[in-house]
Amino acid sequence: MKIFREPKKLQKWAKAQSKAGKKIALVPTMGYLHEGHLSLIAKAKAKGADEIIVSVFVNPVQFCPGEDYEKYPRDEKADLAKCKAAGATAIFFPTPTNMYLERHSVYVNEEDLSKGLCGARRPGHFRGVCTVVAKLFNLAHADFAVFGQKDYQQAQIIKRMVRDLNFDLEIVVAPIVREPSGLARSSRNTYLSAEEKAKALAISGGLRKLAGAARKSGLGDAAGEDAPRYGIAQLKRDLTKAGLKVDYVECVDAETLETRKKIGKGCCVLVAAYDGKTRLIDNVLV
Ligand code: PAF
Repeated sequence: MKIFREPKKLQKWAKAQSKAGKKIALVPTMGYLHEGHLSLIAKAKAKGADEIIVSVFVNPVQFCPGEDYEKYPRDEKADLAKCKAAGATAIFFPTPTNMYLERHSVYVNEEDLSKGLCGARRPGHFRGVCTVVAKLFNLAHADFAVFGQKDYQQAQIIKRMVRDLNFDLEIVVAPIVREPSGLARSSRNTYLSAEEKAKALAISGGLRKLAGAARKSGLGDAAGEDAPRYGIAQLKRDLTKAGLKVDYVECVDAETLETRKKIGKGCCVLVAAYDGKTRLIDNVLV
């Protein structure tokens, strides 16, 4: 497996692979890799990539003041071993100073899908995400890039960026990978104590219940229609009752991310909630 630290070196190598007719996949990550990330590598493999580049970079530009940039978990050695075992062919470990040169002054702003949800609560976050992802696209010469559905808003924004800025690659979104308990896998789960982990299950459990209720009533299933409808308000109450601090629970159109009054086909229900100091996100497509 190739290891790159210099953006220019990765770009030169990737360009040569592309010219030689290799199909290149990019898997952008912030490291501290878990099963969720490995499923993205597996997806790249299943789609027939000849070269799978995993980038590992805790991007300072996407963290807001007071967030966990400094304490975000990092483990280069373990990430290397996991990438190798999963079948990645190249790993890219840039540093903040070689990704953002002195007087870096160009950023990418998406101005529609970023307005609500995490975009509203984490000002500047998606500007940082779009900027670093655009840079990675330019370095990796990829035919496609794989992102996880857990960061649903992020995936939609990146698809829009690719469309609007004419990037020549496909965006693939892979399903959420969960722990056996149902908790969505995240590098930030490492911050959770056993007690907090137990509380966090209210998120995946509630979303599952809500999607189940919506599907049942959508199909006109009498049992579903008779049952008291489990909606956003009840989910919020359940999260609060479990000891979580709700940041948002919203039902949006899965494409436009505009608020939908009714949960039904083609919508996505998204949750962000604080479990102690840890902000967790999850979602379900209905
Ligand atoms: O989803 C993430 O891990 C990050 O936001 C990404 C896409 C790697 C950009 O830093």
